Order: sequence, then C-alpha cells, then structure tokens
Amino acid sequence: MVDEQTVLATLQLNADVVIRLATAEDIPALEWGGEFWQLRTRFEQAFAEQQAGNRLILIAALNNYPVGRLIVQLAHGSPNYVNGASRAYLYSLHVMKPLRRQGIGTALIETAEALLIERGYRWATIAVAKDNAEALDLYQRLGYRIFREDPGRWSYTDPAGKEHLVDEPSWVLQKRLRRER
Ligand SMILES: CC(C)(COP(=O)(O)OP(=O)(O)OC[C@H]1O[C@@H](n2cnc3c(N)ncnc32)[C@H](O)[C@@H]1OP(=O)(O)O)[C@@H](O)C(=O)NCCC(=O)NCCS
Repeated sequence: MVDEQTVLATLQLNADVVIRLATAEDIPALEWGGEFWQLRTRFEQAFAEQQAGNRLILIAALNNYPVGRLIVQLAHGSPNYVNGASRAYLYSLHVMKPLRRQGIGTALIETAEALLIERGYRWATIAVAKDNAEALDLYQRLGYRIFREDPGRWSYTDPAGKEHLVDEPSWVLQKRLRRER
C-alpha cells in the first residue's frame, strides 16, 4: 500500500503496447535485466525455432521493450499439445508485474489465436500449474477448458551450465479456435 502522504507527484502515461513477433534484438531484452537470465538458452532456442517456422515468439512491446511474452509451439512436441497441423501449444506467458491486469496477457493470447486460425490450426493448448489460480481463471475466461493433467516435469540448463529441474503438476487446457464470422 502506498501511503498518500508519501506521494510527491502523479503523472498519467499515454503509451501504446504493441503486440508483435520478436526480432533478434528482442531476445536479450527478454531476460528483463537479469530476472530471466537463466532462460537465455531457451529464448535463443525458441528464436531459432521461430526462424525455422516451428515457433512464434510474441512480445508485448512498450516503447519497443518487451514487457510481456508468449511463445507458440507450432510443431515437434507431445501430440496431446501440438501436432504441426491442427494443434498448437502456447507457453511461457509472462507479463511484467507493474503492468498486469490491464489486458496485456489477454491481448497476447488473442493475437496468438488469430495467427493460429490464419495458419489453419483448430485447437490451442496451454498448461498451467495447479496452484496458479490467477492464470487458470484467465484461461477459462478466454474459453480454455481442462482436458488432462500433466506432471509438469521439465528441465533447462542456465548460461552458467547448471541444470534446473522444474516439477510443477499442471492442468492442460484446450480451446477450439473459430474464425470470426
Ligand atoms: C498470468 C498473466 C500472464 C496475466 O497477464 P495480465 O496482463 O495480467 O492479463 P490480463 O490483464 O489480460 O488479465 C488478467 C486479469 O485482469 C483483468 N483485467 C484485464 N484488463 C483489466 C483492466 N483494465 N482493469 C482491471 N482488470 C483487468 C482480466 O479480466 C483478468 O481477470 P481474470 O483473470 O479474473 O479473468 C500474469 O499475471 C503473469 O505474468 N503472471 C506470472 C506468470 C504466470 O503465471 N504465467 C502463466 C503461466 S501458465
């Protein structure tokens, strides 16, 4: 809570948030000044996959800085999630804390869905840790429905060479994508 008496000045911001595909210049900025440095290799791999046509990295850019991200896996994954033709997997959704609850997460997901529809995909899937009620609420509000569980075990190696094991029992949701009439 901010104590009213400590506020010295207030100004209104008027800035556009642009949803676009990440460029090579955006990839280091996705580390958010160190908060996500450990995912550097994952971001670099996802960008290589974007160039190969297998993934899309969507960013929400404020003054050209990526304040939100969402990665779409189009091919090469577990068939329950992604099959390269009709099912694609959305993951790594994150919005900077001070900018949450203003519609950026929704805009990232809706933009990803529109891109998938354009490419002929009929289902989008997404996984969420069972204890992440906020994200689960958002996905359900956007029309995603739980269809299976997943142990949510995956690993990554940080730039210092340390391996991290993630153990995050998850719900997996899916949504039927429909072209707007
Ligand atoms: C989950 C996450 C990405 C959502 O991002 P966001 O930008 O806050 O998402 P939105 O603003 O579109 O929606 C969030 C909520 O704010 C509400 N909201 C949207 N615009 C709003 C506004 N202008 N004023 C008030 N509330 C608003 C939405 O209705 C939504 O509520 P709901 O969850 O009850 O449906 C964000 O909280 C986050 O980065 N969390 C940490 C990482 C994480 O958990 N990622 C998901 C992994 S599965």
